[in-house]
Amino acid sequence: MTEPQLVARDLRRSFRIGPRRIEVLRGISLDVAHGEAVFLCGASGAGKTTLLYTLAGLERPEAGTVEFEGRRLYTGSSSSQAEMRNRKMGFVFQGYFLLPELTALENVMLPGMIGGKRNRVAGEATLKDVGLSDRLHHLPAELSGGEQQRVAIARALTNDPDIIFADEPTGNLDSRTGDSIIELLLELARSRKKTLLVVTHDARLAALGDRQLRIVDGVLA
Ligand SMILES: Nc1ncnc2c1ncn2[C@@H]1O[C@H](COP(=O)(O)OP(=O)(O)OP(=O)(O)O)[C@@H](O)[C@H]1O
Ligand SMILES: [Mg+2]
Repeated sequence: MTEPQLVARDLRRSFRIGPRRIEVLRGISLDVAHGEAVFLCGASGAGKTTLLYTLAGLERPEAGTVEFEGRRLYTGSSSSQAEMRNRKMGFVFQGYFLLPELTALENVMLPGMIGGKRNRVAGEATLKDVGLSDRLHHLPAELSGGEQQRVAIARALTNDPDIIFADEPTGNLDSRTGDSIIELLLELARSRKKTLLVVTHDARLAALGDRQLRIVDGVLA
């Protein structure tokens, strides 16, 4: 397939804080190819999370368009958009966002259950792939930070999405654990031919991907 998987054109987004308006995205365009691993860098507050969410169909831009696999986001009913996201996209959020009262396995099975699938076997297999086969029935509070992040990665993979969006997946981890999480994400994405869009402010980790983008002053430098 030669068409890019994700096409963004002239994305703009601002926020009003009191009387002031800050322009966070000031005309961002980019193409991402199928299977590409792209790292998105920039200072704290530069707009990385805002851009990632906009590309993933989670935050409507004020202007500009996003097309994913030939389909324009932010059009159509919100339920069909949500259904598409659940089926085609995996998310690893800043902070892990595991549900505290669910076990590791239940957290991983959750997106599939929302999609109406019984996916216990797939959930167990993905947790094994991230090295947690002996932690299936632990609650998040009973797991280390790195283990919780691996559960979050397994959850992002369990629906077999085409693309994975990850926002600072190494944020709360020491640098060695962080490195191993990025290596794990890259290895899983490459072996399963998934596209990866990862936010980080660690330039050293970003160099491991296929391409590095940097937001400066609301545009890609
Ligand atoms: N809902 C909101 N309301 C007002 N301002 C917001 C909102 N969301 C984000 N912002 C502002 O937009 C700017 C960019 O935020 P964003 O979360 O995208 O930054 P970031 O690059 O992800 O930063 P970090 O590395 O700290 O996570 C920040 O200045 C933030 O205060
Ligand atoms: Mg952020």
